[in-house]
Amino acid sequence: MMTSKAILIVDDDKDMRLALQETLTRRGYGTTLACNGIEALERMREKEYQAIIADIKMPGMSGVEMLQEVKKKGLNTPLILITAYGKIEDAVEAMKAGAFDYIQKPFSSEAVEAIVDKALEQNNKKATKRRHMPKGEIITNDPAMQKIIELASMVAPTRAPFLIQGESGTGKEVLARFIHNHSPRKEYPFIAINCAALPEGLLESELFGHEKGSFTGAISRKLGKFELAQGGTLMLDEISEMNLHLQAKLLRVLQEYEIDRLGGREPISIDVRIIATTNRDLGEAIAEKKFREDLFYRLNVVSLVIPPLRERREDIPLLTDHFMHKYSRDNGKGSKVVSKNALSLLMEYPWPGNVRELENIIERAVILSRDNTLSPKDISLPFPLSVKAEVGENGKQCSMKDMEKALILKTLTEYNNNRTHTAKTLGISIRTLRNKLKEYRS
Ligand SMILES: Nc1ncnc2c1ncn2[C@@H]1O[C@H](COP(=O)(O)OP(=O)(O)OP(=O)(O)O)[C@@H](O)[C@H]1O
Ligand SMILES: [Mg+2]
Repeated sequence: MMTSKAILIVDDDKDMRLALQETLTRRGYGTTLACNGIEALERMREKEYQAIIADIKMPGMSGVEMLQEVKKKGLNTPLILITAYGKIEDAVEAMKAGAFDYIQKPFSSEAVEAIVDKALEQNNKKATKRRHMPKGEIITNDPAMQKIIELASMVAPTRAPFLIQGESGTGKEVLARFIHNHSPRKEYPFIAINCAALPEGLLESELFGHEKGSFTGAISRKLGKFELAQGGTLMLDEISEMNLHLQAKLLRVLQEYEIDRLGGREPISIDVRIIATTNRDLGEAIAEKKFREDLFYRLNVVSLVIPPLRERREDIPLLTDHFMHKYSRDNGKGSKVVSKNALSLLMEYPWPGNVRELENIIERAVILSRDNTLSPKDISLPFPLSVKAEVGENGKQCSMKDMEKALILKTLTEYNNNRTHTAKTLGISIRTLRNKLKEYRS
């Protein structure tokens, strides 16, 4: 049921409040109204909202000031700000302050619905999959990782782009945020966009923006992420999924630092550091003519390839300790230690989901453990180390789904996480394999 979603509408203009309420109620959402920022903050103390939509210009406390207060409280509720027609600088200010997005007046009810749906979807994803927002603190003792950090720190102050390669969950976004935080851009936005999550046409307009009327449905001017990240950093996640047309456009951006809004007349100069990330082998994509070689070289000024966790096992105790502290603190639990046997389990496991997987396992262990020592029974590894050893043994029941998962992960480990070989061996397509892995991660 959609009615479980609660949206807070904040506007000093009564007609606007009611119009928004009507639109969102029609869509099945629960709404609460507030006529200024102070009242809105009051409402937020009483109840949790899944999204907030607020006017930027309100007497007393502006929408941006309210947003800053929300952030100070550590709330991650997506906040959409309403800006006046033609006030592009307001939109930029909104994004800089960390708004989820902005919507320009006058807008249609479809536009409000679309943007609120998007915010709710993201909020939902954050609440489930991405509960752990990487902050840019890199915990490691590994020489290869330290070399990467050293290189990244050296190049961070320049505008040179970066390409960060590494398997899923190795810490690519952590490194991207580290670079941003160690650059003079740190007071400006860090914006991330996942190239695999959007259909091609939408990705183009999300990146480059569009003028009003440039295509059906373009009811008002929209700034793209390149413009919204002005002065800051734009992370292009899963760059391998970008189509060739957009790759050509991106190459031009990296050469000229200029973009054209769709339907725009004049190029707009931008000052943005681009960080691209990928968990796919771009060499393969280049050979298959799916990724431009010139773009690869332009992005890969210094090579940052994060090794998988199984190749830096000495980081496992360090990360375990870090996550144990973090989740004990977050959950109001006393400090914990990990038993010798539990640690050897963690040291042996191949970690196909890398640091993210370790983080999830430790979080669960901390929450479920009853005493101060995490023992093997608290460590619930999601798949048996050996299919043979586990299936049917220990009187354990194993569903087809579990078997499939175990087999996929085992084969993947055998092939050193090479997805092409794994898919071939198992007789499934790479896409199917990718979808399955995504499912296991969620
Ligand atoms: N070295 C590290 N120190 C502390 N935390 C880390 C480290 N590496 C990864 N993490 C944590 O692991 C999780 C996954 O990291 P991140 O999101 O950066 O991975 P990723 O490589 O971008 O993964 P994906 O390819 O799936 O997007 C995050 O919660 C992050 O905070
Ligand atoms: Mg990532």
